[in-house]
Amino acid sequence: MSIRLGLHRRTGPGVGARSVLAGAVVATLLFGTTAANAGPGSATRADDLDGLRGLAAKRGLLIGSAVYNPPLLGDARYRALLAREFSAVSPGNVMKWDTVEPERGMVDLTAADHMMRFASGHRQIVRGHTLVWHNQLPYWLTQKTWSDADLATILEKHVKEEAAKFRGRVYAWDVINEPFNEDGTWRETIWYKALGPGYVAKALQWAHEADPRAKLYLNDYNLEWNTAKADAMYALVSDLRERGVPVHGVGFQGHLGIQYDYPAPVIDHLRRFTGLGLDVAITEADVRMPLPVTDAKLATQADYFGRLLSACLAVRRCVSFTIWGLSDAHSWVPGVFAGQGAATPYDHDLRPKPAYAELREALRHRVAGSER
Ligand code: XIL
Repeated sequence: MSIRLGLHRRTGPGVGARSVLAGAVVATLLFGTTAANAGPGSATRADDLDGLRGLAAKRGLLIGSAVYNPPLLGDARYRALLAREFSAVSPGNVMKWDTVEPERGMVDLTAADHMMRFASGHRQIVRGHTLVWHNQLPYWLTQKTWSDADLATILEKHVKEEAAKFRGRVYAWDVINEPFNEDGTWRETIWYKALGPGYVAKALQWAHEADPRAKLYLNDYNLEWNTAKADAMYALVSDLRERGVPVHGVGFQGHLGIQYDYPAPVIDHLRRFTGLGLDVAITEADVRMPLPVTDAKLATQADYFGRLLSACLAVRRCVSFTIWGLSDAHSWVPGVFAGQGAATPYDHDLRPKPAYAELREALRHRVAGSER
């Protein structure tokens, strides 16, 4: 599997909206779990209302966590926290192509279904992640040389089949993940090379055909602050909208680091897209730090998490805020960024860090200039 090692090496500075959430159904989801369905060790109803999930519901915001399973969903403490604090889940890996189709034609949705069952049992929505990406592709696909026509056929089959399998069960799909380079040029992925930039519109159309009610997103990192990349995304979605291609949202991954300045332009960047009539979402928030952890670093992290959530809350159509991994024990950061970690609001032992308190504060207070 290839992982982008150059990722986020930043040099620079650092529906209404709610009606798109399918009205009453999502209102129920937002208001979430009860002690009865949260499972063993779960919190009381009063705790629910005071946690992230309860507070976010009052602001009309879905709050999500990326889930790694198995075996995490078998851990009672993990399950209880996930149910109590979050109204949305994203699959950390289990809906990616290498997991769902490890051998050509051998579709395995066991892990994805497991997560789906957890989500529906706890009234959480699912953000599907992801249909078209250049990473975590199955070996049968990457190890062989294909013609462009073959790749077009393979991609169409994959997008249509996976979207159809989860039809009606995902609230939104990250249909396209990470289409651009940092300078705003197209990333020359296997899909771009075979189909050209038209792969984006095609994939959106295929996904829409297979699951007409799912919200379809384009998702990328550094859109928070990188103007060249945000401009490229803006030009792409404007063009798609003009041509009537089904696209409903733009996902800002939100991978931040305390060694960089806080990405101050994020609110303006979010609003550019909502100005086009799209939803936006923070889809993979985390705030990494060079290790070891210190109190000062945790304070900066808390500040960044709080500001990023406040930015989403300030934008009426910022529909969800998802944290990439429940705790520091479930984060991708240490495996990818050497010497860095501690990127989530809970420590390795699932104890809340200062960032958790700051997220709650952000949910409690309306910032100046907020659209909601
Ligand atoms: C990461 C997962 O968290 C890791 O477990 C996996 O090894 C690699 O992928 N951007 C994305 C996510 O869109 O899918 C990535 O998830 C993190 C970066």
